[in-house]
Amino acid sequence: MTGLNATAGIAVIGGSGLYALLDDAEEYSVDTPFGSPSDPITVASVSDRRVAFLPRHGRDHRYPPHKIPYRANLWALRALGARQVVAPCAVGGLRPELGAGSFVVPDQLIDRTSGRAQTFYDSGAVHVNFANPYCPVGRRTAVERAGAHGIDITDGGTMIVVEGPRFSTRAESRWYASMGGTTVNMTGYPEAVLARELALCYTAIALVTDLDAGVEGEHGVTQEEVFRVFGENTERMRGLLLDVVAALPARPDCACQHALDGLKLPGSPSTMD
Ligand code: ADE
Repeated sequence: MTGLNATAGIAVIGGSGLYALLDDAEEYSVDTPFGSPSDPITVASVSDRRVAFLPRHGRDHRYPPHKIPYRANLWALRALGARQVVAPCAVGGLRPELGAGSFVVPDQLIDRTSGRAQTFYDSGAVHVNFANPYCPVGRRTAVERAGAHGIDITDGGTMIVVEGPRFSTRAESRWYASMGGTTVNMTGYPEAVLARELALCYTAIALVTDLDAGVEGEHGVTQEEVFRVFGENTERMRGLLLDVVAALPARPDCACQHALDGLKLPGSPSTMD
């Protein structure tokens, strides 16, 4: 599985509507202690960087948000050498000014999921710092590259991650907005914390596909509009992603990379080095 060509320092986890990213890619089926990832992983060069791509829901969208094998996905990407993860996703806007087609690079999240496996460390005392859940360098790179693409992007915001698979009621949606939420989605957690537990840089790039149910005058969210709007923006997202991965630092050394420093890991992913 891990021949030299399979090594990829950067990974992109594609969301709803983004099931392929790379041209002329090789495909790898990776097994992990947590089972198989959502799909075989494709690897190709982008500029001079080796990049891995994994469709979060599987290429046929067989995994709903609450059934995605998040641990297998992150572990498999790390096993291929990933140090940085870029994570596009579809979100609902919780603010009227964030209409369909807006881009947001969140800097915070609130976990409203329940019952998902959210750690690699089921024994011992491993408590990672998650105060800033997203990579500062990846965030800055995404915002800068969006500007260069003429994409109007919101720098910062709090992503509320709900369990789903249903959309929120109006009352829930208004509550999320009142607690400071900027956007709402179903897949941003535990993906972000699992990346942190492997000391990976993790940057979410959110595409607003709808205004959520609590936003004044909105009709409630439909699956049809989420997929349609993501589809309409796939090429913009794809162009941005390819630009972002080419612009990420070749040797990241931000705090994310040191998330496990000083922690005593019980027979753990660090042994993958
Ligand atoms: N993904 C896209 N739009 C969403 C919404 N309104 N709520 C939850 N997840 C979403």
